[in-house]
Amino acid sequence: MDQKQMTDLIQQMTLEEKIAQLLQLTANLHEGTDDQSQITGPMEEMGITEEMVRASGSVLGLSGASSVIALQQEYMKKSRLGIPLLFMADVVHGFKTIFPIPLAIGCSWDLRLAEKSAEIAARESSVSGIHVTFAPMVDLVRDPRWGRVMETTGEDPYLNSLFARAFVRGYQGSNLQEDKERLAACVKHFAAYGAAEGGRDYNTVDMSERQLREYYLPAYKAALDEGCEMIMASFNTVDGIPASGNEKLMRGILRDEWGFDGVLISDWASIREMIAHGAAEDDCDAAYRAIRAGVDIEMMTPCYVQHLPQLIKSGRVSEAWIDEAVLRILQLKNKLGLFENPLRGADPEAESEVLFSAEHRQAAYDLAVKSSILLKNNDVLPLKPESNVALIGPFAGQEDILGWWSCVGVKEDAVQLGAALQERLNHKLTIAEGCGIDTMTPQQLAQAMDTARSADVIVLALGESAAMSGEGGSRTDIKLPKAQLELVKELKKLGKPMAAVLFNGRPLDLHGVLGEADAVLEAWFPGSEGGAAIADLLVGKANPSGRLTMSFPQTVGQVPVYYNGFNTGRPMDPSKTGERYVSKYIDSPNEPLLPFGFGLSYSTFEYGQLSISSHEMSAEKPLEVSISVTNTSARAGIETVQLYIRDVCGEVVRPLRELKGFEQIELEPGESKTVKFTITEELLRYHHSDLSFTSDPGSFHIFVGPNSRDTLQASFTLI
Ligand code: GLC
Repeated sequence: MDQKQMTDLIQQMTLEEKIAQLLQLTANLHEGTDDQSQITGPMEEMGITEEMVRASGSVLGLSGASSVIALQQEYMKKSRLGIPLLFMADVVHGFKTIFPIPLAIGCSWDLRLAEKSAEIAARESSVSGIHVTFAPMVDLVRDPRWGRVMETTGEDPYLNSLFARAFVRGYQGSNLQEDKERLAACVKHFAAYGAAEGGRDYNTVDMSERQLREYYLPAYKAALDEGCEMIMASFNTVDGIPASGNEKLMRGILRDEWGFDGVLISDWASIREMIAHGAAEDDCDAAYRAIRAGVDIEMMTPCYVQHLPQLIKSGRVSEAWIDEAVLRILQLKNKLGLFENPLRGADPEAESEVLFSAEHRQAAYDLAVKSSILLKNNDVLPLKPESNVALIGPFAGQEDILGWWSCVGVKEDAVQLGAALQERLNHKLTIAEGCGIDTMTPQQLAQAMDTARSADVIVLALGESAAMSGEGGSRTDIKLPKAQLELVKELKKLGKPMAAVLFNGRPLDLHGVLGEADAVLEAWFPGSEGGAAIADLLVGKANPSGRLTMSFPQTVGQVPVYYNGFNTGRPMDPSKTGERYVSKYIDSPNEPLLPFGFGLSYSTFEYGQLSISSHEMSAEKPLEVSISVTNTSARAGIETVQLYIRDVCGEVVRPLRELKGFEQIELEPGESKTVKFTITEELLRYHHSDLSFTSDPGSFHIFVGPNSRDTLQASFTLI
């Protein structure tokens, strides 16, 4: 359908039909429409009536080719103008084949595999009838108390922007109209949802516009620049106004400044929640503020359907606002080819072959290997082939290793660490649970101690339950649960080598495990093939290469702690710990326990001299940086060489380090490679106090190394 046909179609629509396109409801409400008993409970409380359900323009959370086909066909029979339903769902790190959580994917620093994971997720979802995914989530995070850090790629705007683009490419491909195996992507949550005060979900977000633009907005913009079709408003306030009613954010920045003309959807009930925020009098006022801000689809509440007709009649709302929203929604349906083929890629026959295929599981395995991070290793890993191993901890059993937002993934389908290690170690492995996630019985402990006594080495399988992170999963204490720390303490008394594997959805306070274990492998929630990937890393069939994209704090008392902070006027000199009147704690170091970019390998790498093409650069003359890296071990391995810069003096204070480039290289034993970076003037731009985005002449430092802390340094001047 072309633009004119769409605008003609809108002319034919009644006001009620237009407004119905702006409502999105969950599938169960649709599926129950013929059974009056369904019109109870949440629907009545929410004020949702049966005809609203019947007419609404898109469906949330339904998948399964047959179900989607049935609902779409039923809907099309009654659709006076033949406008098909849009099916949207949270496909965040996989559909049936579940990949590691996005925070883990970020730690792979592998944009190609990230894109591939999104492409596979799209292939599985589209054959199951989904058209749009509510992903990528690109909220920048600096507070591990927040449960949804698991859903993002971390604390750096540059890296998050690259991953945002990779995910959008993977989900959408290059031609949504033709390629039925892709999905429209919906970047979220706009904006700055990850900056909730106290790391408490849905809490207030308040920062300067400059901070917002410098750190929090770039990744959303990158997703949209990559062609992302949709964007979702966040629950939180931005400078005192909930995003769902924030004109300056939505009409000002998103629409006018960035020129985004795609669909903007609210988050779940976030329009009505403006009342609770204290930013709307009632549903009618909430509807007014949201449509004025340009929110096109209302998710799960009927403020639009109930009040827009009156608001238009009273002249407070122009029907033009409705028409522009409806046009964006019809354009999206058109881009997906739904007018020609309302069933799009839904295919019950193909579904069973495509979902959870060996090829897809292999990709999930590869990404799980690359997302895991070796945090410590005093020569305990990889496990010696002759060792008798005791695997002990709650994740040796059947705990969920898929993590939050695992779509239609089935945790029982996941390859567990115990089973995978059993396969690889046979009779050399004994397993004991030792404790639950946060409970331990004397019998469990006794059995664990016995099991450990007869082994040469102990592998601990510890972590958070899947529900201890994710939406609504904020924690004030980010240590491992007490029962697990107790188990570690008791096992430590045996004086045997111990390696700990961690399954968690956030950076943890590792007191009680990092010091006690001789090796620690961060597995995050590694997905459907997680156990196999971790087992291969433990036995040395694979070599860890992940690097942290979110700092691990010493303790929660240090939060927020992140690598790209400022020097302050009284920086602490770590060599002068006695100084009092400097920016420091009297009970903790300033540095995080583990810095951004950190990760070990079974290989060892040596960095040669850092060389730069000149000590001066300009917009016309970029700077070339190069360094040789050698694998000085007997194992082939992957090193992620990172480039940071520091603008020594700006019109506003500038971070001590900012990631501006990285390159992942594979090195055979003894092999050297020279890594080159080009520093352009564009890379040195930042938001000034007047919000202009420019660079300043002056001195800069360059840092190159394996993480944000252990780096080689050089300097140059931008003229
Ligand atoms: C949830 C989440 C959002 C998700 C939406 C639909 O509350 O905040 O990320 O896409 O509702 O499930």
